Amino acid sequence: MTPYEMAGGAPGVSAVLERLYDRAFVDPIIGFLFVGKDKGRIVQSQVSFTAGFLGGPRLYQGPSLPEAHANLPLLPGHFARRHRLLEEALGESKIPESVQRLWLEIDERLKDSVLAAGEAARAQSRSASR
Ligand code: HEM
Repeated sequence: MTPYEMAGGAPGVSAVLERLYDRAFVDPIIGFLFVGKDKGRIVQSQVSFTAGFLGGPRLYQGPSLPEAHANLPLLPGHFARRHRLLEEALGESKIPESVQRLWLEIDERLKDSVLAAGEAARAQSRSASR
């Protein structure tokens, strides 16, 4: 059985990501980054992205992670906060702990990629606030 199957396939993975983004959108630390964004679309994209790295179907055809986040002024602390919310959402699921750990390890390894293109966006929001 693949980790994806052990996580409950598409319904299992969707349930975790829906819980994660329900919280992220109203979170005091990272909520502002999601203002005006389409939650359903972000969840959908990430269900297919996540399936790909858990051994499920490789259906994700969206932008690369640096491209997807290029316009956001993301800092390592924002990444850490989302990662923590993911850990909480996983902890409330019935997904086996070994699969939760694998998911969190892979998520953590994607950090540099998610933050890669953010410097330009951070510089822009710094100059906009002057
Ligand atoms: C390993 C961690 C992450 C993964 C795997 C991930 C994955 C993705 C994917 C696949 C998309 C959709 C791209 C598309 O279909 O257009 C996306 C969009 C987005 N992500 Fe992430 N993300 C991560 C971390 C973060 C963090 C830390 C934040 C903010 C705290 C964030 C905020 C957003 C926002 C706001 C969008 C929508 C961008 C837009 O449509 O303008 N992401 N992410």
